[in-house]
This record gives sequence, C-alpha cells and structure tokens, in this order.
Amino acid sequence: MSTLELKQVTKSFGATQVIKGIDLAINHGEFVVFVGPSGCGKSTLLRMIAGLEPVSTGEVRIDDAIVNEVPAAERGLAMVFQSYALYPHMSVRQNLSFGLENLKTPKPEVERRVAEAARMLRMEQLLERRPGQLSGGQRQRVAIGRAVVREPKIFLFDEPLSNLDAELRVQMRVEIGNLHQRLGNTMIYVTHDQVEAMTMADRIAVLKDGRLEQFGRPLDLYNRPANLFVAGFIGSPRMNFLNGTVKALGSEGVKVALDAGGEVSVPCQFQGIAPGSAVKLGVRPEHISLKDAGGDVSLSVSITEQLGGESYLHGTLPSGETLSVRLAGQTRVVRGDTVGLGLADPALRHLFHAETGLALPPLT
Ligand SMILES: Nc1ncnc2c1ncn2[C@@H]1O[C@H](COP(=O)(O)OP(=O)(O)OP(=O)(O)O)[C@@H](O)[C@H]1O
Ligand SMILES: [Mg+2]
Repeated sequence: MSTLELKQVTKSFGATQVIKGIDLAINHGEFVVFVGPSGCGKSTLLRMIAGLEPVSTGEVRIDDAIVNEVPAAERGLAMVFQSYALYPHMSVRQNLSFGLENLKTPKPEVERRVAEAARMLRMEQLLERRPGQLSGGQRQRVAIGRAVVREPKIFLFDEPLSNLDAELRVQMRVEIGNLHQRLGNTMIYVTHDQVEAMTMADRIAVLKDGRLEQFGRPLDLYNRPANLFVAGFIGSPRMNFLNGTVKALGSEGVKVALDAGGEVSVPCQFQGIAPGSAVKLGVRPEHISLKDAGGDVSLSVSITEQLGGESYLHGTLPSGETLSVRLAGQTRVVRGDTVGLGLADPALRHLFHAETGLALPPLT
C-alpha cells in the first residue's frame, strides 16, 4: 500500500525558485497526472519524488515515512522517461533483466519477472531483438517493462509518449491504463497534453509557474475550475473569456453587463464583488448555441471549420473580443455572417474575479 505526500516542497536552482511550496497527498493505487505548460516544474517535481534531485525545503513522504534523505535506488520507485534510455547493444531481454541482475536478484526470479512483464506488455516476440530493431512504440514498451520488472511501489512517468505519433499515443495510453488496472500501483504521470490528463487520471494536479493551481478529478476540473488558468487549460478548444461589469447581485446570482453588449446572469455566490466590479465570464465553446432571435451577443464570423461531425465558428464580438463556438454536426454559417448566440445554460456559465482570477463558487 503506497501513498505519497508532499508537504510545502520547494526547489531552487541557485537564486531561482522553480517549485514554490507544493502540498499534495496521493492515495494508494491512484493514477495522478501532473499537467502544466512547459517550464512550470513538472519534471523537477517528479525528479524530487524519485530522489534524483534533492528538495530545497519541505518533506517528501512515502507511506508516511520522510524520504528526503533516502537515495533514489532505495525509495522503491521506478521512473519511465520520454527518451527511452535503453542500452542499444543489449537485447530487449537483457535490457529488462540488467537492473535486477545488478541488484543480485536470483536468476529464476529475474526470469519470472521478465517473462511476466513481456507477457503483460505483449512483447514476448521481441525479447531477442535489440532496441535498434524496434519501433518507437515497442521501445517505449520496453522502457515501461523495465520499470515493471522492478516491482516498484510507485511508478513515475515523465512524458513517456511524447515521441510517438498520435495513433500510437492513443494505443499506449490504453496500455498504460490496463497496466494500472492490473497492477493497482500508485502511478504519477507527467504530460502537457490535457487530453492525456483527462483520459488517464483519477486526479489531475494542474501546475503553473512552480505552484499547484488545482488538484481534483478530471470532470471536477472541467466543471468547476478554481481559477482562470485552470479554466483555460482544461478543455479543448479552450474556454472563452468575456469581460464584463457586475450590474446587480440577487437571489438568482450575479447579473453581468458584458463589454460585448447584452446582460447575462450567473448563478454564483458573490463574495468579494459588488456592483461595478470587473469580472470575466467564462463560457466553453461547446456550451454556446446559435439563436435566431433573443441571443445574448452577436458574433461576426471570420472562420468556419467544418469537420463533418462537428463545426467550429471563430469570430469577433462588438467589443472586439474573439469567441469560438463548437456546434454539433454541420452548419450553414459562413465567413462574413453575423449570428446571434446563446451563451450557455446559466448553470454552465463561469464567473471569475477579473483581478484575482479566482472563480466565484456556484450557488448551493
Ligand atoms: N538543473 C537545473 N538548473 C537550473 N534550472 C533548472 C534545472 N532544471 C530545471 N530548471 C528550471 O526549472 C524550471 C522547471 O523545469 P522543469 O523541467 O521541471 O519543467 P517542466 O514542467 O518539466 O517543462 P517541460 O514541459 O518543458 O518538460 C524551468 O524554468 C527550468 O529552466
Ligand atoms: Mg519536463
């Protein structure tokens, strides 16, 4: 049973602090994904958990024991990297068994574990080949196999699929999911691909600039992003943000006058705002609909994208703000048209403080 806890972990390289105090508690058997833009500190955080990088301050706990001073090899973790880091002159079998032999694992045990990993990752036919004779996806399976044979308490993956083409990524995603199902280990997986995060994670940790922005289940992040950053990061195409001013507060929530013209009500609480406060309305492209009459705003369409099963409209509002709309099926709207839009069911609207970026919680 392996849990992992970070308590106020920071990391500085010289005078530059890149991890700025992260608290995180991961349950046994959980699949947690770290996401965030390039340079936000995902790899650094993972390397500190692995023991490849010392923490500057704070605690890393595995199964309730502080492991700050425990060397990487003794933490019972295994890490899979983006670059497969296989030994080119060794066969797949040797690549899998090498680490165990170094640890003086008895030979029959090594053979048992290699055979089991090969079966699990469907690479029994590849055992005598060298890495140079494998495809990218097969190499990544060997790299994962090398982690599996170590029977670690926790698996750490750092963007393991980013060298693979789109189709293979989808396939490997499923394989890693199956592996997690079968082994039941705690796994931490780093990616900057939010689709990977949404599809694989039990819980997602969204990082930005060395800080944890939100930690929660994928649909909770989608439905209730805590701030503008998470709202813009989770969901594709990204959420639209429209500037507005609070006009009135009431039992129905907040009435907002949009810069783009029109008024919308958002059924949310209103701590910290008052009439006149600057706010941002968040509306996802998939929640906007065409309205022949009585729409909330009008959009001057500059691009229409027809994908067959769905269509996208991109355009400009009277305020000059841009907006994207996703429509189910095909559309007759063409470039140059002006269309009326309904800005989502009230319950699907999000409202943020313009200044702090924090989301206003829904009415309970
Ligand atoms: N050894 C180091 N010395 C100095 N700065 C470093 C070192 N390693 C990482 N950094 C800096 O720390 C920050 C976080 O880097 P990190 O590699 O953790 O980001 P990341 O989120 O994994 O990004 P990516 O998605 O591009 O892999 C970056 O600004 C990076 O330049
Ligand atoms: Mg990285």
